[in-house]
Amino acid sequence: MRIGVLTGGGDCPGLNAVIRAVVRKGVEVYGHEFVGFKDGWKGPLEGLTKPLGVPEVRGILPRGGTILRSSRTNPFKIEGGVEKIKTNLANLGVDALVAIGGEDTLGVATKLDELGVKVIGVPKTIDNDLGATDFTFGFDTAVNIAMEAIDRLHTTAESHHRAVIVEVMGRHAGWIALHAGLAGGANVVLIPEKKFDLEKVVEHVAHRFKIDYSPIVVIAEGAMPSDGDLITQTGELDAFGHVRLGGIGNWLASQIEKATGKEARCVVLGHTQRGGTPTAFDRVLATRFGLQAIDAVHEGDWGKMVALRGTEIVRVPLVEATKELKTVPLHRYAEAEVFFG
Ligand code: F6P
Repeated sequence: MRIGVLTGGGDCPGLNAVIRAVVRKGVEVYGHEFVGFKDGWKGPLEGLTKPLGVPEVRGILPRGGTILRSSRTNPFKIEGGVEKIKTNLANLGVDALVAIGGEDTLGVATKLDELGVKVIGVPKTIDNDLGATDFTFGFDTAVNIAMEAIDRLHTTAESHHRAVIVEVMGRHAGWIALHAGLAGGANVVLIPEKKFDLEKVVEHVAHRFKIDYSPIVVIAEGAMPSDGDLITQTGELDAFGHVRLGGIGNWLASQIEKATGKEARCVVLGHTQRGGTPTAFDRVLATRFGLQAIDAVHEGDWGKMVALRGTEIVRVPLVEATKELKTVPLHRYAEAEVFFG
C-alpha cells in the first residue's frame, strides 16, 4: 500500500515521534510505502508532497515541531476541495491517509471518511481536550514547561514582592492551567470552564501577600470573569472559525494592581508551551499511537482514531472522537481549589 501522512493544526511536541513510528513499522514490518503531505490538509489539497521513508525519519524522535510542517487549512471551506483531494490522492497513487491532528484536522478526517477517503486519525494537542482519549501527546510536555516556568516565577516574584499572573494556552479547556497550577503550587488557577469572581481572586492574592509569600495566579487564555467575555487579540477568525485569544492575563494583572496596590506582572507563556523536545511520556505515547495507527491501516480498519484508555492503546470511531470537547469537570477543579488563597 502507498500511504500518505499529514500533520495539521497547531503543532505539538511528539508529532515527529508518531511519524517515525508509522513509517518504521509500516516499511520494516509491513513493507508499505509512504508519501509525506506538507502543511496539513493543504498538502493533499494542492498535491504538496515530500519523500517519507526510513532515512527521512532517522533522528527525529526527540525533535519538536513537525518535519511535515502544518497549517490550519480547511478543505471544506474551499470550492471543490474534497474533489481536489480525491484527484490528487488518485494521481499520486495514495491508497490511504494517516492524519495526525486535533479536533479540526480530525473533524476534516471524519467527513472525508464519510465521503469514501480511507483515513486513520491520530490525536494530538497540547490542550488535551479531545474526547475519546484519556490523554493526547504534547500535553505532558506543555504542562512540564509551564510548571518549570511557575517554579522560576515563584522565586523572582518573592524577591520583588510582586504578584505574577501566568497566562497559559487553553481556549475552551483548562487542562494545562489546572495541571501546571497544581504541579507548580499556584495561589489561584482560572480556567475557561468556570467564570471567575474577580473579588475572590483579589482576596486570595491579598492573603498570600499578608503571609509574605508571593502570589502566582495561573490563568488559561480562554478564562473569563463572571461579568465579562473572552479577550481576543484580533476579531479575525481562522479557517475553522477560531478567534485568536490572548490578553486576559494582562487584564487581570492590572485589576489586581488596582485592587491591592501591589505590583502585578503578567507572563504569557504562549508558544513556548508548544515548542521543543517532547517529554519521555509524550515520546512513548506518540510512538505507541503511531504503531497502532499503522496496524489499523494495514488491517483496513478505516474511519478510526487511536486512543489511550487507561494504559492501553485502542481504536475508536473518528466520529466519536470529534463529537465533543473534553473539558475539565468541576469536581477536578474543586481538587485544586483546596489550595487557593
Ligand atoms: O490548539 C492548540 C493551541 O495551542 C491552543 O491552545 C491555542 O489557543 C491555539 O493553538 C493557538 O494557535 P496558533 O497561535 O498557532 O494559531
